[in-house]
Amino acid sequence: MPMYNLWSLVEPLLDAAEAKNVVEIGSFEAENTRHLLHRARRTKGIVHAVDPFPKFHTGDAEREYGPFIAIHQKKSLDVIPDLCPCDAVLIDGDHTWYTVINELRLLHKHSVLHGQMPLILLHDVGWPYGRRDCYQIDEDIPKEYRHPHAFKGLVMGQSYVTDVPWALHSNCDNALYEGGPHNGVLTAVEDFLKEIGSEWSFTDIPGFYGLGILLHEKTARAFPALASLVKSLQLPIPLREHLLSLERIRFSCYTEINRLEWELKNTSAQEQSVCPPTPSEREIAAVAMEQSGS
Ligand SMILES: C[S@@+](CC[C@H](N)C(=O)[O-])C[C@H]1O[C@@H](n2cnc3c(N)ncnc32)[C@H](O)[C@@H]1O
Repeated sequence: MPMYNLWSLVEPLLDAAEAKNVVEIGSFEAENTRHLLHRARRTKGIVHAVDPFPKFHTGDAEREYGPFIAIHQKKSLDVIPDLCPCDAVLIDGDHTWYTVINELRLLHKHSVLHGQMPLILLHDVGWPYGRRDCYQIDEDIPKEYRHPHAFKGLVMGQSYVTDVPWALHSNCDNALYEGGPHNGVLTAVEDFLKEIGSEWSFTDIPGFYGLGILLHEKTARAFPALASLVKSLQLPIPLREHLLSLERIRFSCYTEINRLEWELKNTSAQEQSVCPPTPSEREIAAVAMEQSGS
């Protein structure tokens, strides 16, 4: 899901981290990458855009942004060791437990080697992929970590996928069930934190699929402005509940739009099959001429 809607949170976080060397995992159509690149121009930094299947013209981007962009048409797990040390990493690539926990493990391992822990921002820690895997290339995920999955839609509050044709994300290869072990982006973050201990703090902000912030204690000490910004984003429970309500309403609006679009498409298809298209005046005249033998 696009991360560019979160720029009003991401930009001040990157600025407070004084991040110049920024890694973006999952660039897609480069909407968020463009935000990062404009910032890189301002900070004289560099954006490493990592995506095995970018949906933007990489040559044009390289020409336009020159030294501010490095494009890696590779999978995150193959390239992370080469990209450390870095100041910040945005994770929005493969939304499976297996890939996300291994991205975090690799980032931690290679950052420790270099003695520099990046600020890590994760998209999709909220519904629908916080607790559910979504498969892009399922063979990339070892069988033991692959949940049964299908191109079926999702309903908030319902674990099993649905056959309702207008349900959300029915164009995605979704794990059939939500929750349980080894399932989803947020579960991967929690399991990573259990493994690594309390060196990292985690803050999540609901809305636009949810933003997760991982901050290492060493980075927090080195950048006090970042530490206090992250602290200020730890929401009091009523405000958090309020954002979650807005997010629920946003999803029900999208579902309703999908339903209306689906009905419109199917009603007009039905009408077309019941009533043949009205002939044009020219067609009527041609038939009349043929029948009159002229
Ligand atoms: C949700 S989109 C990213 C959206 C983008 N961050 C934005 O805000 O507009 C996910 C992207 O991750 C890419 N992707 C999938 N698996 C990946 C992997 N293992 N490493 C890096 N990128 C991956 C996909 O090709 C896709 O373009």
